[in-house]
Amino acid sequence: MLVNRYIFLMVCELSIEKLVQGGEGLARLNDGRVCFVWGGLPGERCRVELTTSKKDFARGRVVEVLEKSADRVQPRCPLYGKCGGCSLQHLDSAKQVPYLERVERENFQRIAHQELSADFKIYQAEPWGYRNRARVVYLGERDGRCRFGFRKQESNGVVAIENCPVLTSGLSDFLKNAKASEIFKGLKRIPKDLELNLFDDGAGRVAYYYRGMPESRRQECSVSTVKMCDKGIVSDASVFFQSNLSLLPRLVESVREAVDEGIASGAASDEWLIDLFSGVGFFAAMLQDRFKRITTVEREPLCLKYAKVNLSGNKGAAETENVSAPAEEWLAKNVVDKPATLIVDPPRTGLPPEALSAIVKSSVNRLIYVSCDPVTLARDFAKFSAAGFALKRAEGFAFYPQTPHLEMMFVLAR
Ligand SMILES: C[S@@+](CC[C@H](N)C(=O)[O-])C[C@H]1O[C@@H](n2cnc3c(N)ncnc32)[C@H](O)[C@@H]1O
Repeated sequence: MLVNRYIFLMVCELSIEKLVQGGEGLARLNDGRVCFVWGGLPGERCRVELTTSKKDFARGRVVEVLEKSADRVQPRCPLYGKCGGCSLQHLDSAKQVPYLERVERENFQRIAHQELSADFKIYQAEPWGYRNRARVVYLGERDGRCRFGFRKQESNGVVAIENCPVLTSGLSDFLKNAKASEIFKGLKRIPKDLELNLFDDGAGRVAYYYRGMPESRRQECSVSTVKMCDKGIVSDASVFFQSNLSLLPRLVESVREAVDEGIASGAASDEWLIDLFSGVGFFAAMLQDRFKRITTVEREPLCLKYAKVNLSGNKGAAETENVSAPAEEWLAKNVVDKPATLIVDPPRTGLPPEALSAIVKSSVNRLIYVSCDPVTLARDFAKFSAAGFALKRAEGFAFYPQTPHLEMMFVLAR
């Protein structure tokens, strides 16, 4: 019986009601269950192949569009639907920001039970050629040139890259022209499926890193300096850095405005900046001339080296401390008993619960929360809200066109 039901449901005709978090279309099956449909747009009627069937919901992919939305466009990339990225390419670039805004408003309502204000805005990036960071898999050499691939969608397999239209021209040129004899110089054997992190510094130079890179080549190959808002930020291709350098200055501007507002209002102070999940000290470096004391906290040990370099020219601050530790551990050991200025920029998983409760218990009355996942941001906001914090400012940054991802900045105060 179960088997028959599954076969019956393998392909069915569905009407897509709306787009939801993650870029899937939402439809209803005949039995009332919700079905998340990869590749469907609101208002469309599609033939959908079901890929997952659970008690409460199902998942599927569009195999044929029967009634097409006016917002549907031909995906530009030959790897659309095959590699793990850019799942929103079938939606007109001009319609992607309105989609991100609607989903973000719904997330906030559903998870935090509050409304984002009417003036919530999302800053837009160039729709193509923006991505300055990529992880690729080395697939061997043909005719003296390296071949690379991306990880496939929902599997560990690899699909060969022909041309990736969201990458910067610097990264595309690197992928076309790279020679194994240069990249892997000094390596005795190239392991199968070796992954490379690539980083375009925005000025035409591509840094790269792979596990096992000879230490003697590290400085030359994987370290780069990014010019950002009149500062040089040193980083390494193996650690985190933002992947849309064109829109990043707008986020820096918003963070600076939020910091200045906090200090001017007296809710935060210029005595102490605490930059948690600081990476190579990016935000602290952008703000260093405003503070007397700066602490950066980051778990990845290599970031410490570069945070020190990036904060070393601090003329304004009397004291700079770069800590290599989990943020939750640092918060547990250090009493924040001043109205310090706090910035948090955690990974997709959001704030570890211990970090969140330590912030709530501290004397921090205002914080700037930068997030790459609106769902965990809304979840964490709900906890801050229960502890008396209110949302003072919310802005979005469409760092990743053609994907359903959105960068956010919230300012919270109590
Ligand atoms: C989204 S990145 C932000 C980095 C930095 N703010 C920037 O803009 O370049 C998050 C960073 O948090 C670090 N991280 C993850 N979990 C952490 C933890 N529990 N404590 C401290 N750092 C953590 C990651 O290594 C990563 O560098």
